[in-house]
Amino acid sequence: MEDHLKLLFPPEEIHLAVTRLANEIRRDFAGKMPLFIGILKGSFIFLSDLVRASKIPLEIDFIRAISYGSRHVSSGDVRITKDIETDITNRHVILVEDIVDTGLTLNVIVERMKAKNPADLKICALVEKHIRREMPVKIDYLGLSAKDGFLVGYGLDYNEKYRYLPGIYIIEKQV
Ligand code: PRP
Repeated sequence: MEDHLKLLFPPEEIHLAVTRLANEIRRDFAGKMPLFIGILKGSFIFLSDLVRASKIPLEIDFIRAISYGSRHVSSGDVRITKDIETDITNRHVILVEDIVDTGLTLNVIVERMKAKNPADLKICALVEKHIRREMPVKIDYLGLSAKDGFLVGYGLDYNEKYRYLPGIYIIEKQV
């Protein structure tokens, strides 16, 4: 049974959004040596494009969060399976997330980061799906908004498939 993918955000639209976000971050963080923390795995492509477009000196770290249960029905059980390796005390931190859905993942990570006393903690997300929000999230730098639908591509997966696609698609399951 094949998945049917419907294009939602073509690569050109993603590129424009990433460039805009990078410009905003450069305006706010030039000279501050920000630390970008990518939330694995989904953010790896977005982070790569974002840091190259920002054109400012910065550092990079990663954190891996796993949300148990399928993303169709969030269990609310978010676990950190790989933590950051950088001391973020008094650092300017930007959390980089591919998609904000229920908001549960970011809430867990934000609380964890705040406890480490950064100078500044901002959130940069490529896509948000407001309709499924369960926990409020203040997204400081937002690229694109989507209605409901399961998204894949540009880092986003369905059962680990489709992360490599340059565009973002809605996956429609055949029944
Ligand atoms: C996805 C996505 C976000 C999170 C958003 O990660 O990359 O991190 O879900 O959902 P939420 O707002 O409902 O918490 P996932 O747990 O699927 O892991 P992955 O990044 O490794 O694909």
